[in-house]
Amino acid sequence: SNRTFTMIKPHAVADNHIGGIIAMIEAAGFRIVAMKKTQLTPALAGKFYEVHKERGFYGELCEMMSSGPIVPMILEKENAVTDFRTLIGATNPANAEEGTIRKIYAKSVGENAIHGSDSDENAAIEGSFFFGVTEQY
Ligand code: GTP
Ligand code: MG
Repeated sequence: SNRTFTMIKPHAVADNHIGGIIAMIEAAGFRIVAMKKTQLTPALAGKFYEVHKERGFYGELCEMMSSGPIVPMILEKENAVTDFRTLIGATNPANAEEGTIRKIYAKSVGENAIHGSDSDENAAIEGSFFFGVTEQY
């Protein structure tokens, strides 16, 4: 598919990096289809990250993702999922390539600045978690 889903994580929003991150996303050729600023409750973060519920960091992840406002977006580009994961870089910023969003803005594996969907199927599920069909242009 030509769409992916992303969220700018709370620490990056709190540190005033929304504009810097969106500038990198647009410069890489992605078009913003949907965008807003909102905040997850711990329960909603738990639902969003349900696939990780058996992992040791699940509680910490849900707490961190609900700790402040986030900026979810649906993005469009050819090969959106794969190209966006290349743009954001490795989950752990210690392993992220130079010039990636996480290399520049992540603080740790938990506070890694941004989310990117890992498949076309999950991009559609995650996008519809935040946006209705009449909010996607
Ligand atoms: P997302 O784009 O956010 O889904 O990241 P990812 O696909 O690169 O990583 P993954 O789906 O495996 O993990 C989801 C999120 O959980 C990561 O982005 C991290 O914020 C967090 N996470 C992953 N591994 C760890 C860990 O070992 N410790 C902590 N605290 N958080 C982790
Ligand atoms: Mg993931």
